[in-house]
Amino acid sequence: MSFINFAKYMEKDFFWHGIGLKVNQTGNISQSDIFIQSSKNKKMKNSMKLILMLVAVLTFSTTIMAQNKSEPWVIPAKYKAMKSTIKANDPSVMTVGKELYNKHCKSCHGTKGYGDGPKSASMKTEIRPLNDKAFLAQTDGEIYYQSFVGRDEMPNFEKKILDEEDRWAVVQFMRTLK
Ligand code: HEC
Repeated sequence: MSFINFAKYMEKDFFWHGIGLKVNQTGNISQSDIFIQSSKNKKMKNSMKLILMLVAVLTFSTTIMAQNKSEPWVIPAKYKAMKSTIKANDPSVMTVGKELYNKHCKSCHGTKGYGDGPKSASMKTEIRPLNDKAFLAQTDGEIYYQSFVGRDEMPNFEKKILDEEDRWAVVQFMRTLK
């Protein structure tokens, strides 16, 4: 039983009237307002305290996890199979790719792709490194989707980088980051 289901289940229980939970749209517990109602029964009061402590710990860890961990990307098949329209290792491609990366991406992803650009500090989502095995193991199409369609805090660049070859140049350039 997940914590959310547990919370819903408990809602029906009379214990729950002493505990107020705020669940945001994404299903994460963003804040918990906890208060203890006075109870005549001492035994019940103690077990309620125990439950409250458990809830506090769970809420805390859920919040931390929600801030740091990013979900795996779900890439539509159409994008996954996309093939680069340009040749890698072409020096002029690298020049264009680097220029565009520095202009549009570096501020968050950092000069070397570690996700340590100046704007990264204000991001709630973890930015994975662009220079490790996990990143390089992806197909060009997967990287293309992440880079130009994006999601949530990763901006959409379809209107900012229009040229198809320019987009592939950025993908190729990112593959050379060390
Ligand atoms: C405003 C900050 C910001 C800018 C600018 C930005 N990104 Fe991102 N990018 C992110 C964040 C945050 C994530 C993680 C998003 C997630 O996992 O939901 C991300 C994820 C990615 C990923 C997938 C790696 C991962 O962390 O899962 C790629 C590839 C990527 N960005 C490429 C680019 C490219 C290419 C550009 C420039 C054209 C760019 N980004 C500009 C913030 C940014």
